[in-house]
Amino acid sequence: MPSLRDAARGRILFGGDYNPEQWPEEVWEDDVRLMKEAGVNSVTLGVFSWARIEPRPGAREFGWLDRVMDLMHTHGIGVVLATPTASPPPWMGARHPETLPRTEDGSVVWYGSRQHFCASSPVYRRYAAAVTEDLAARYAGHPALTVWHINNEYCTHCWCDETAAHFRRWLESRYGTVEALNEAWGTAFWSQRYDAWTEVVPPRKAQYMRNPAQELDFKRFTSDALMECYAAERDIVVRHTPHIPVTTNFMPLWSGQDAWAWSAQEDIVSVDVYPDPKDPQGGQYNAMLADMTRSQAGGAWMLMEQAAGPVNWRGVNHPKPAGLNRLWSLQSVARGADAVCYFQWRQSRQGSEKFHSGMLTHAGEHGRTFREVKQLGAELATIGAAVSGAPVPAEVAVLHDWDAWWASGQEGRPSTLLDYTEVVRSWHRALWETGTTTEFARPDGDLSRFRMVAVPQLYLLSDAAIDNLVAYVRGGGTLVCGFFSGVADVDDRIRPGGMDERLRELFGIRTLHEWWPLDADTTVECDGFRGGLWSEELETEPGAEILSAYRGGELDGLPAVVRKDRAYYVSTLPEPDALRALLGKVVTRAGAGPVLAGLPEGVEAVHRGELLFLLHHGRGDVTVPVPGKRVDLLTGTEFDGSVELGRYGVAVLRDLTP
Ligand code: GAL
Ligand code: ZN
Repeated sequence: MPSLRDAARGRILFGGDYNPEQWPEEVWEDDVRLMKEAGVNSVTLGVFSWARIEPRPGAREFGWLDRVMDLMHTHGIGVVLATPTASPPPWMGARHPETLPRTEDGSVVWYGSRQHFCASSPVYRRYAAAVTEDLAARYAGHPALTVWHINNEYCTHCWCDETAAHFRRWLESRYGTVEALNEAWGTAFWSQRYDAWTEVVPPRKAQYMRNPAQELDFKRFTSDALMECYAAERDIVVRHTPHIPVTTNFMPLWSGQDAWAWSAQEDIVSVDVYPDPKDPQGGQYNAMLADMTRSQAGGAWMLMEQAAGPVNWRGVNHPKPAGLNRLWSLQSVARGADAVCYFQWRQSRQGSEKFHSGMLTHAGEHGRTFREVKQLGAELATIGAAVSGAPVPAEVAVLHDWDAWWASGQEGRPSTLLDYTEVVRSWHRALWETGTTTEFARPDGDLSRFRMVAVPQLYLLSDAAIDNLVAYVRGGGTLVCGFFSGVADVDDRIRPGGMDERLRELFGIRTLHEWWPLDADTTVECDGFRGGLWSEELETEPGAEILSAYRGGELDGLPAVVRKDRAYYVSTLPEPDALRALLGKVVTRAGAGPVLAGLPEGVEAVHRGELLFLLHHGRGDVTVPVPGKRVDLLTGTEFDGSVELGRYGVAVLRDLTP
C-alpha cells in the first residue's frame, strides 16, 4: 500500500493549494521562482477546477493543467492532484437541478459558492466519476504526480427525495425490517410508528423536536453517503495508479465525517487546521488536532491546509504575529506531520477568499509573511531527513467517538450548554499542560498499549466499548471518565439506571439519582476546586473512595470525584487548573508522563523519534532545564543542561550524550 512515505521520501512536504487558474500564465513563472525561493516541494492542484476542466458537459480542457504539471515537474515540485468534484460547474445545477442539495425545509442550495452537490444524486456521481476517470487517465504517468486528493472537505448534507430513497436503502440494510427500525427509533413515542419503508424520510423540518434516533442515523448515513462518493473516486484513481497514495482532507472538529471510519479508507490522513491566532489556547488546539490526526493515521500525517496569516471566515480575522506560523508548523511536525501545507500559495485578488492569507500575500515577496514562509521552508529542509517518518510515543489515550458526539448534541437533552468538543478540548488541554503526550483512540479500539485512558465525555457507548473499558481496567489500565458518560446505547436508548451498570460497578457508583447541569457562568464548590457546566447526584458503593465531595448547594456532601481501584469518575468539569492537577496526578500514578519534568509555563516538550522538540508558546525569554548535552538541529547550537528559548522559540534537539 502506498503511503505518505512514498510522497515525502525522507523530506517534510512543504507547499500549499495552488490555483494557477485564477492567474494569467505569466504569473506562473513568478510563482515557480518564488516557490523555489521558499523551498516549496509540493503543491495541491485542481481542487476547485471543475468548471475550467469541463466548461460544458462532457468537454475536456486539460491543456492548462498539462502546462502547470509540466512546469512543476521541471522545477522538481511534486503535485498533490485533486479531483475537482467539490464544486460542480454552474451548468450542472442549471441543467440538472436534482444535483443541488435541499435543506431541511426543502429549499434549494444554489450554485454560486461551492460544495453544492447532493451526495446521493446519481447524476452528480456520474459526472464526478467521468471527470475523475479522465483526470486519472491523463496524469497517471505524469512524473509530477505524488498524491491523489479526492474532493475537498466533504461536508454537504441533503434532505431531498433522492436522499430520502438512499437513506431508506441504508436503513433497510441496517435494520432489515420496518419493525426493527421502529424498535430502534423508539417510535412508540408520539405516535411515530412507521407502517412501511416508503413513509420514512430524513429528519426534515418538523413542528417540534424530531426523533433523536432518526437524527443520529441520518448523521451516520450522511457520513457513509459522502464516503461512498469518496470511495468511488478513490477506486477510479487507484485503478490507474495503484502506486500513488490517496487522501481527502478532513475538517477535524466538524462532525460530519466519522474520521475513524474514513481514515481507514485512506492511504494518507490529511487535515485542515485553523487555530485562531487570537486564542491564547491556540497552541493547545493545534496540538489536539495534531494528536487526533496522528491517531487516525496511525503515524505520520499530512497537514494539508493551514493559514500563513489571517483567515477570512471569523467575525474578526487576526493575522499571525511574527513567529507564530513557524511555531505552530513546527509543533505539527513535532506531533507527527510529515507535510506542512497551506491554503493557499498565492493570495487571491478576487472571489470570496481575497482577504484570506496565502503563503505569498498581497504584500508580495517582500512581505513579512513570505519572509517567514521562506525561513520555515529552509528549516523544514534542514530537519526533514531526521524527522520524517519518526513515531511520536504516547502512553495516554483520550477517547473520542462520532456516535457519541452526534448523539450528545441533540435537542431535548439536560443542557444545551454541553458542547462535546469543548469538553474534549478541556481534557486534552489539561493533559497537554501537564506535559503528557496524548493520542486519541476509539472506545472500542485496542487500548492495551496505553497506561492511562481518559474519557472526557462519551454519552453514547456501545456494549462492545463498555466491555472494552472494563477489560482495560481489569487488565491493569487506569481509566479516568468524565460526567454524562455511558448513558445511552447505540440506538440512543437510555441505559437502565441512567448509566450502564457495568460502568457503575467499575467506578463504585450504586445509584445515579439525577444529572444537575449548571447554568452558564456558574460553578459548584467541591473539595479542593470548583466545577462548571455539570454536576451529578451520585451515591457510591462502600468500596469506592470519594476523592472530592460537593460543598454547599443541593449536592452538599455528595461525591463529586470517585475512584475504585484504577477507575476514576469525575462528575463535573473541574476548572482548568484543577483538571490539570487531577489528571496530572493520575498520569503520574499510572507511570505515564510527563515528557520532561520542570518545564517553564508555556513550554511544550514532545518526543519524535530520537529527537526532542521544545516549543515555547510565550513571548518572553525562558530557560528550559534539559538534562545532558544536546544540539539544536535548526541552528547547530549546542546546549548542556539547559536550553534558551526566545519569543515563540523552537528547538529540535538531538542527544549528544554518548
Ligand atoms: C478550507 C478549504 C479551502 C479554503 C480554506 C480557507 O476549508 O478547504 O479551500 O476555503 O478553508 O480557510
Ligand atoms: Zn439530495
